[in-house]
Amino acid sequence: TVLVVDFGAQYAQLIARRVREASVYSEIVSSKMPIEEMLAKKPAAIILSGGPSSVYAEGAPQLNPALFEADIPVLGICYGFQAMAQSLGGTVARTGQREYGRTSLSIGDGGTLLASMPNTLNVWMSHGDAVCKAPKGFSVLGRTAGAPVAAFEDVNRRLAGVQWHPEVLHTQWGQQVLEQFLYEIADLTPSWTPENMVTEAIEEIRAKVGDRRVLCALSGGVDSAVAAALVQQAIGSQLTCVFVDHGLLRKGEAEQVKNDFVKVTGVDLVVADEADRFIGALAGVTDPEQKRKIIGREFIRTFEATARDLDGERGIDFLVQGTLYPDVVESGGGEGAANIKSHHNVGGLPDDLQFTLIEPLRHMFKDEVRAVGQQLGLPEEMVWRHPFPGPGLAIRIVGEVTPERLETLRQADAIAREELTAARLDRDIWQFPVVLLADVRSVGVQGDGRTYGHPIVLRPVTSDDAMTADWARLPYEVLEKISSRITNECADINRVTVDITSKPPGTIEWE
Ligand code: XMP
Repeated sequence: TVLVVDFGAQYAQLIARRVREASVYSEIVSSKMPIEEMLAKKPAAIILSGGPSSVYAEGAPQLNPALFEADIPVLGICYGFQAMAQSLGGTVARTGQREYGRTSLSIGDGGTLLASMPNTLNVWMSHGDAVCKAPKGFSVLGRTAGAPVAAFEDVNRRLAGVQWHPEVLHTQWGQQVLEQFLYEIADLTPSWTPENMVTEAIEEIRAKVGDRRVLCALSGGVDSAVAAALVQQAIGSQLTCVFVDHGLLRKGEAEQVKNDFVKVTGVDLVVADEADRFIGALAGVTDPEQKRKIIGREFIRTFEATARDLDGERGIDFLVQGTLYPDVVESGGGEGAANIKSHHNVGGLPDDLQFTLIEPLRHMFKDEVRAVGQQLGLPEEMVWRHPFPGPGLAIRIVGEVTPERLETLRQADAIAREELTAARLDRDIWQFPVVLLADVRSVGVQGDGRTYGHPIVLRPVTSDDAMTADWARLPYEVLEKISSRITNECADINRVTVDITSKPPGTIEWE
């Protein structure tokens, strides 16, 4: 394990991800963790992240020099670099001269860390003070206008540091710097591969579950599918999956869960076909929150009834949940979160269902979940599926949800997805909601008649985490194709519009 010590900046997660991209397992720990505890994790290397801009800043987190006596390779980044320099006897000057954003780095003798890199690089900086003298035994590898010592290393002691942020996308050769440290200085082997992730997860699940029984709710999304497939590989018939088909999924998705997923994984699946019940409960409802509440409530009722039947029959001890590593980090990182977090997709499970949680994805980032899904042979369309809200198409019909409107939207959505895939743009787009404005009508002309139909809104967005988003600049040809197909093929649609609002102020969904 490589420990990424988080000094309170937003970069620690990014560093951890980049280390994983180099096929080395990494974990984030707080800089407040006592050194003994860090060492007890037997880290193969430690990376000190960025943090406050100055080691002299008030309340700046301190670095315990004992870290450097433990014979563990250490890479300091930005703040971590300065803290390291100071702690090892170098000089950090309060220059007050700031470098923010793109900066030109001159590399002298690149040593091992910067071996065979160009003489000048654009790197991403964010610092006030600078290291102006390297500690004894270190060689200086590069400089910028504001940082006389922008990188150093002591290969014998396996210590190195850089003032810039190798983890950010805008830094040239950033990933290579991390890899030089991991492979050449720390001498690690890239062994965190999808195969190994699967093997480790399976061992962990087996050890935890023994011969007891496990339940998993499938939503049609990537996380629950991969989690279920992993558990299935680990314990086979001890797992039962429940899929509540609420009739609000997109074209082909329910079939994919009911048929393809079962075929590939051999999982024991109980399907609750409850479309009529959900659509009945939504009759006459137009308020978005009301729709969510109704769907959440009906979901719980259905899931609970199914789970109780199964529990009564066979006794079930565990519930699978698709928690990812970023959720774990954000909620403080503790092992075995006690509460079932209120899960978007299932709208919060009832308190009186007493299950222990199994979270086979709790060490993984999203891209690793996808890699594991591929490794397990899940269908491509499932593994690369865009995020989709639990309440489904119900919150993409502005107005009352009816079977006819669902059918129309399902068709329009399928067209948009087909054309996006045909243009090979699936992986450039975060999400592509297609919205039916059922409460709006506009005049059109088709053939030789006037029409009075409904508009469809296309809402393709780019994003990293759905917290913020930008509208995607889809090529005109792709938009044109989607528009003409939708107006030709979907009943009652005579207009297609594109939503060009970022988030904020808009949300990704319309309801
Ligand atoms: P907004 O629309 O708030 O969406 O920008 C952010 C992300 O959350 C998804 N979303 C939901 N997911 N249940 C869900 O499971 C919901 O009620 C819900 N509402 C929004 C949305 O698709 C986007 O990915």
